[in-house]
Amino acid sequence: MRVCKKLPPLRMKNKLQISPSILSADFGRLNEEIASIAAHVESLHVDVMDGHFVPNLTFGAPVVRCIKTSLPLECHLMVENPEHYVEAFEKAGAHSFIFHIETTVAPAELVAAIHAHGMKAGVSLNPGTDISTLAEVLPLVDSVLVMSVNPGFGGQAFMPVALEKIRTLRAQFPDLNIAVDGGVNAETGAQCVEAGANILVAGSFIFGAPDREAAIESLR
Ligand code: DX5
Ligand code: ZN
Repeated sequence: MRVCKKLPPLRMKNKLQISPSILSADFGRLNEEIASIAAHVESLHVDVMDGHFVPNLTFGAPVVRCIKTSLPLECHLMVENPEHYVEAFEKAGAHSFIFHIETTVAPAELVAAIHAHGMKAGVSLNPGTDISTLAEVLPLVDSVLVMSVNPGFGGQAFMPVALEKIRTLRAQFPDLNIAVDGGVNAETGAQCVEAGANILVAGSFIFGAPDREAAIESLR
């Protein structure tokens, strides 16, 4: 059971949001780790991996349900058949359900299902996937998560191919929430914001820092 069901709206035009990825936190002390950064950020980024779409495993809805925070949980599902998990993530307290465009042939139906379950819908794309694949869902989703690493692991180097995608998306959709995920630090984060991103996801840069609050502030 989540501590607080009242969640702020995700869409906040022009306001930068920092969303720490808990993938780099100590899972054995997850709620303490979250508490260490909660006062300084706008949301939490929750990486769900299935060992099929990506070559790594993390956790599913039962663990998400145990997260105690009033921050919005932005759940990034790096899984095949994401439509199978919509209801479970709603029940686990997810605020956003972010699926990969590579994992579905019916993205509009998936977005409708996510909305019907009371969650915000986000779509993500891998570094090697062209933004033209998003055309059908862009008018429907609440956010786009541009991957700047090949998903599966934290701590990888930022891939600049993301910057051009962010620029193109921002030019076409001035009000869209555009997030970037992978290899984000103070330097690459600034490049992403300059390109038009308004949500920075960062895992190792925040949880690996000796001063987490200072790391977060350096992203703003
Ligand atoms: C990668 C995940 C990312 C990752 C980011 O598959 O989707 O959210 O945790 O970690 P860093 O910030 O360390 O690249
Ligand atoms: Zn992620």
